[in-house]
Amino acid sequence: TRAVRVGVLGAGVVGSQVVRLLIEQADELTARVGATLELAAVAVRRPERHADIPAALLTTDAAAVVADPEIDVVVEVIGGIEPTKDLLLTALNRGAGVVTANKALLAEHGPQLYQAADAAGADLYYEAAVAGAIPLIRPLRESLAGDRIQRIMGIVNGTTNFILSAMVESGMGYQEALAEATRLGYAEADPTADVDGFDAAAKAAILASIGFHTRVGASDVYREGIAAVSAADIAAAREIGCTVKLLAICERVPGPDGSPGGDAVSARVHPVMMPTSHPLATVDGAYNAVYVEAEAAGRLMFYGPGAGGAPTASAVLGDLVAVARNRVAGGRGPRESSYAALPILPMGDV
Ligand code: HSE
Repeated sequence: TRAVRVGVLGAGVVGSQVVRLLIEQADELTARVGATLELAAVAVRRPERHADIPAALLTTDAAAVVADPEIDVVVEVIGGIEPTKDLLLTALNRGAGVVTANKALLAEHGPQLYQAADAAGADLYYEAAVAGAIPLIRPLRESLAGDRIQRIMGIVNGTTNFILSAMVESGMGYQEALAEATRLGYAEADPTADVDGFDAAAKAAILASIGFHTRVGASDVYREGIAAVSAADIAAAREIGCTVKLLAICERVPGPDGSPGGDAVSARVHPVMMPTSHPLATVDGAYNAVYVEAEAAGRLMFYGPGAGGAPTASAVLGDLVAVARNRVAGGRGPRESSYAALPILPMGDV
């Protein structure tokens, strides 16, 4: 088999770790894929800032990387909607596999990307888009494909969980905690995406779409961030044996008779007072955890590092190995286009 050639777009907090691991673990990854996994190009804005990446790999021309017929898989870790969407569509349209960590793009334009992937018979994998290192997308779309998911509820933003944990535990101020989350590489380039709940809402849209086999966009998700959570709120929660967490809650809305698992879907993100005895209440720092309730499986909990360069790179590389294996086998992974259109409950009704 010929080599599987990889082009990486972006070398920031996550991308630099992806590139490092691809280089350091080249032999092992090649053994796992069954063909040489070759890093062919890394597109960055300012090559002079990336002395740790072999100069021969660096380019400023992302458009050339995605159009290059010699590149089999494009790994996108630049984020943002434009020009990222067009870059990924170019790659998918010519049949290249795409691995992305871009939750905002998937939440807004997922259907267009899935369609392009299906039309070209290309893979589109995005484990890193939700909850960093935690295996969640593939368990939902593959392992639980035979079950009926009723509810997905979780802590899916590391920055806000880090801030709330710091406020609860050490009485650290909001600004100080946010600065620390940014320093540790958890926060988005613009941290208002974290604290105002946009990041969690994008992830909720992705989880609801996969979990309920429907299409939920970011704008379908009711959203409230943590900006209004005060030290007094946290103290009041403590008085009654609770802590404060920002939760994403996606569920099949109960039927009129209260029976679980109806055929409409709701998704929302807001701060919740949680009894400290609840397993989600013990999830601290940048850790994420997601509770899944399925008809046959019962309750499952996925837990682990939800943000940061290396943990997120782990999920990206896992996807890359999966896509490369699919190519070596001459096939592709699960299709995304087989969606039913479940009604999404208007936001005012949740
Ligand atoms: N800013 C995100 C977070 C990064 O804090 O969870 C991971 O998506």
